[in-house]
Amino acid sequence: MTDKENTALVIGASGGLGAAFKTQLLSGGGFSQVLGLSRSVSDEGAPLLDITDESSIAESAEWLKSKCIEQPLRLVIVATGFLHNTGNGPERSLSQLDATYLAQVFAINTIGPGLLLKHLAPLLPKSGDVKLAFISAKVGSISDNALGGWYGYRASKAALNQIVKTASIELARRNKQTCCIALHPGTVATQLSDPFSKTGLNVREPAMAAQEILHVIDRLTPQDNGRFVDYRGEQLPW
Ligand SMILES: NC(=O)c1ccc[n+]([C@@H]2O[C@H](COP(=O)([O-])OP(=O)(O)OC[C@H]3O[C@@H](n4cnc5c(N)ncnc54)[C@H](OP(=O)(O)O)[C@@H]3O)[C@@H](O)[C@H]2O)c1
Repeated sequence: MTDKENTALVIGASGGLGAAFKTQLLSGGGFSQVLGLSRSVSDEGAPLLDITDESSIAESAEWLKSKCIEQPLRLVIVATGFLHNTGNGPERSLSQLDATYLAQVFAINTIGPGLLLKHLAPLLPKSGDVKLAFISAKVGSISDNALGGWYGYRASKAALNQIVKTASIELARRNKQTCCIALHPGTVATQLSDPFSKTGLNVREPAMAAQEILHVIDRLTPQDNGRFVDYRGEQLPW
């Protein structure tokens, strides 16, 4: 095995941002192996991954283990997420709080990434650089919340940020070269943002957003472990 034998993994590789990350990692040439997992389309031989089902996560982890024996995991980008589906979406007021929507938004945005960390942690190399980037959202910042609304999505991303921060401490005890962060991608033209991307907002295409974010990830060092940053690398308040 040489230093050049390494794996990058995109989780949520069927999404607007996830697909763009995978395409650019494949063309960038920085990794000898680029893997994608998702609920709807996966790499050949890979199981489909539903992050709301722990047995599905465990099955994907087993597959990854076999793929990463010679090419260790050096980068993991988790680009899954949920904001709306038909009939369910972000709340404008307390009167719209709905237990089913709240459970779904937490299952996908918070609990799923937490369980992914549980099953991926044993697969991470114990030495050398390892980067994990969880795509979060600035609306998950509690101190930046000036507008209100979007109770479930905001709360699920705030809770994701706490899971990422807490995991960053534990993972760095196992490997000091770890950098595990929460990252706000900015507003990106995907199906997730489509109903909400008002004119006047800086809405970027997924390819552009992925390029900017990969540039930020490229410059991360273990000193950045546990941070919450945006697509320009700027620190965000919790
Ligand atoms: N777009 C924006 O403006 C924006 C802004 C701030 C933050 N974000 C965050 O960026 C991330 C990527 O979102 P996106 O804009 O690329 O949205 P997207 O195109 O809707 O992608 C969402 C991804 O999440 C996957 N997913 C949803 N539920 C899942 C489950 N139970 N198991 C496995 N995968 C599941 C989807 O899989 P399927 O293809 O199977 O549905 C899809 O791959 C999300 O965390 C989002 O909150 C986006």
